[in-house]
Amino acid sequence: MSAITKQNYRGVYHFSPQQNWMNDPNGLVYFEGEYHLFFQHHPDGMTMGEMHWGHAVSRDLVAWEEMPIALEPDELGMIFSGSAVVDWKNTTGFFEDKPGLVAIFTHHLNRPEGEPPVQYQSIAYSKDNGRTWTKYAGNPVLEHDSFIDFRDPKVFWDKQQSRWVMIVACGQTVCLYHSPDLIHWTFASEFGAGIGSHDGVWECPDLFPLAVDGDKDNTKWVMLVSIGADPAFEEGSRTQYFTGDFDGAVFTPDEASRSIRWVDYGRDNYAGVSWSDLPEEDGRRLFIGWMSNWMYAQQTPTEGFRGSMTIPRELTLETRNGEATLIQKPVKELEAARIPVLSLTNVSVQEINAACASLQLDAYVIEAKLTPGTSAGFRVKAGAKQQTVAGINAQTEELYIDRTASGKSDFHELFPGLHSAKLAASDAANELCIYVDRSSVEMFAGGGQAVITDLIFPEPESASLAAFAEHEEDVFLSLDIYELASSAAD
Ligand code: FRU
Repeated sequence: MSAITKQNYRGVYHFSPQQNWMNDPNGLVYFEGEYHLFFQHHPDGMTMGEMHWGHAVSRDLVAWEEMPIALEPDELGMIFSGSAVVDWKNTTGFFEDKPGLVAIFTHHLNRPEGEPPVQYQSIAYSKDNGRTWTKYAGNPVLEHDSFIDFRDPKVFWDKQQSRWVMIVACGQTVCLYHSPDLIHWTFASEFGAGIGSHDGVWECPDLFPLAVDGDKDNTKWVMLVSIGADPAFEEGSRTQYFTGDFDGAVFTPDEASRSIRWVDYGRDNYAGVSWSDLPEEDGRRLFIGWMSNWMYAQQTPTEGFRGSMTIPRELTLETRNGEATLIQKPVKELEAARIPVLSLTNVSVQEINAACASLQLDAYVIEAKLTPGTSAGFRVKAGAKQQTVAGINAQTEELYIDRTASGKSDFHELFPGLHSAKLAASDAANELCIYVDRSSVEMFAGGGQAVITDLIFPEPESASLAAFAEHEEDVFLSLDIYELASSAAD
């Protein structure tokens, strides 16, 4: 293991940059056996600054190799968030003998004191699998007169209409555009007025179809919209989703979208978007988020680097309480990296804790089935004075993570707290899956319907793990613990 992976608070199986600041995932695209993860990066500082696109590549979504910086600021501005696609049909005319990658991103130009910054959309292309990029000479390709906040284009190929679609954040709505060639864009529609949460500026949208309950004849479109931190709201930045229909120009929300629904009920899953161009035979919609929150992201106590991604997750839609509901599960590739540590069935808390007493795990996964209707869970990264509590409250029918005593938290008064998510009735309501790493807990319950992602900063010696339940006689129907190996290609 290299010195880098041993660094304080650097996740063992989460991607983080070797040095300095990172925020949003960008340009998520699969091409020729590689998952590309570009990211918002300030290579010269530990806070947001002159933004670049950093670059990492993985063949299995577990081990990530950081590559040289992909896109640097230029006379049009810094490089803000955006997406990437494979131009299979050479619609741009940039490619000769084989298809290549096109990045579509926001240029952010700061202007003299007193004048607002400008944001417009630009493109760049790569003929060598994302290793080097050429910015299009005609940039920017899309401008807007009336929005200061006009950013984070996510582009996909619309098979029905045979054209590209862009969804891009415009203040507190999203705008949809289409294009034959990624260069010339036509406005199609605007969505968001009077619906959803407007607790902050809208950012980093995404739009994609998913089969409901695996039925390919019943597809709905899912729109993700992240909303920026506003000091008036203690949650900071978070991501909402809508379900509905999309006809190639207009997104029409369904009934369920009248209520606000969050992708994640923790504090640290922001600006997440999905991978483009997965092979049809794979058929999955894969997602990754930035595991932080603008409320305190620039103050977290990591050393040498700041910011990491969530684990990659698969998104599906399942009917819960009569509504098509977003489901998130850790990608199956993570299973291959797991090393079994403990496997028990019909076991009491006492027996679990006897088995866990000598465990001092750094990075691990807990999978547990609770007796339906009982309140129970785990204390993880626990030491003399610290613990993070992750469990189910059967009375309130909620899943929760309590990080009030999780370790370092004095960098922001709103960091300590208890975060909960409602569990919908389902056969899986008693199933818990908890991914623990050096500075994070990601908890999935109800078969992926309720998700909480929270950063924590425990002392390294706070490494014990214990179960708890409301009543002494309560049993866990099953419990499996796995250790997770390093993600760094070292
Ligand atoms: C979201 C965001 C984007 C922007 C980027 C800048 O976290 O604010 O809207 O493009 O970060 O780094």
